[in-house]
Amino acid sequence: MKKETRVTHQPKVKLLEGNESLVGPVYRSVKFTFPDLGSASSKDARSDGFDYTRDSNPTTRQLELLAAELQDRDDAICVSTGMAAIWLATLSNLSVGDRIVFFAESYKPTRSMIRDRLSRFGINFSMLSVHDLDAISEVFSDDDTKLVIFESPTNPLVQIPDLSAIVKFAKKYNVKTILDNTFGGLHNHGDYGIDLFVHSLTKYASGHGDVMGGIVIGDQQQIKELKPWAVNMGSTLDPGAAYLILRGLRTYYLRYQRHSETALTLAKFLQGHSCIERVYYPGLEEDPGHTLAVQQMDTFGAVLSFDLRGDSQIAQRFIDELELFATASSIGSTESLVAPVRRYFASDLSDEELSQVGITHSTIRLSVGLEDAGDLISDIEKALSRVFG
Ligand SMILES: Cc1ncc(COP(=O)(O)O)c(C=O)c1O
Repeated sequence: MKKETRVTHQPKVKLLEGNESLVGPVYRSVKFTFPDLGSASSKDARSDGFDYTRDSNPTTRQLELLAAELQDRDDAICVSTGMAAIWLATLSNLSVGDRIVFFAESYKPTRSMIRDRLSRFGINFSMLSVHDLDAISEVFSDDDTKLVIFESPTNPLVQIPDLSAIVKFAKKYNVKTILDNTFGGLHNHGDYGIDLFVHSLTKYASGHGDVMGGIVIGDQQQIKELKPWAVNMGSTLDPGAAYLILRGLRTYYLRYQRHSETALTLAKFLQGHSCIERVYYPGLEEDPGHTLAVQQMDTFGAVLSFDLRGDSQIAQRFIDELELFATASSIGSTESLVAPVRRYFASDLSDEELSQVGITHSTIRLSVGLEDAGDLISDIEKALSRVFG
């Protein structure tokens, strides 16, 4: 064989029987083959074989199996981002004339997907408050309502919806439930009868802010129905990205626990501070969502929000004075982040909707990283004293 040919037909390195790598390999290959056409079309090959990475890939599959198990379900499909997961789960469950229910207390791009985009394709929608159980039950009882998408805790004001009540109404009226569990995390809410979980794996799962990914998790039948949509849409997760997320998951529980402890420490500090009007964090005993949160979750995550006493200019100055918090909109990675809520997460809401949700000109969201809690508190203290004197 000429060397020009050898570079394409490279030597294969096979591990000895029993000689295993402790970290799974990254299967970068787009294509997979079999020794002959007969074995390529065998029953096993058709059910468990790999053919083309847009359909499935062993590294990505490893992530799907792990994430499904953490979320107490038996199957999952990875996609390239959290938004792609939200699109896949919603689009594949709607037809012209159907109604989707969603909430003012949710991630802005989800609202935009429904109000600005799905509506162009004959999908009806109702936007409610996630706390208005009477209105939820009423709209679920409409014949055209087929789907509800919600979050817990919600982005950005970490509100806690009553999962049992929403699931109960949904089952009664045959409405499919999608929980965007990005804030809750893979270890929370598995014991509620949610049909499909979606996650942005960009956040806690990968944990280091260096890779994007999304996943839809459910029981086997639900995922089997979604699979042809995912393959056809082609928003495949790259196997290299899947590998980074698998690596991040090795420390997932430690990180989520630490994020939660630090966030609670900061929430308590802010709650007692004279420059702070109100703090939103479900881990605080005084938070209206605390009782439900304790029933529904183990720990409460990295995100907290608060209203500064002051206007948007004061809020902006405070944000600019922080040194350990970078101004950015993501969550759940090692570094702490800060963002003005109205500008970053609510520019699509009317004044009336903003006041219903509780977002003011001085509402600020923090995503607490893995830094020392004392350092973060002194950074906040310094910023507050520079702004308020
Ligand atoms: C609650 C929630 N869902 C979905 C997403 C979208 O995730 P991605 O940026 O991976 O598309 C985000 C991103 O911030 C989010 O906060």
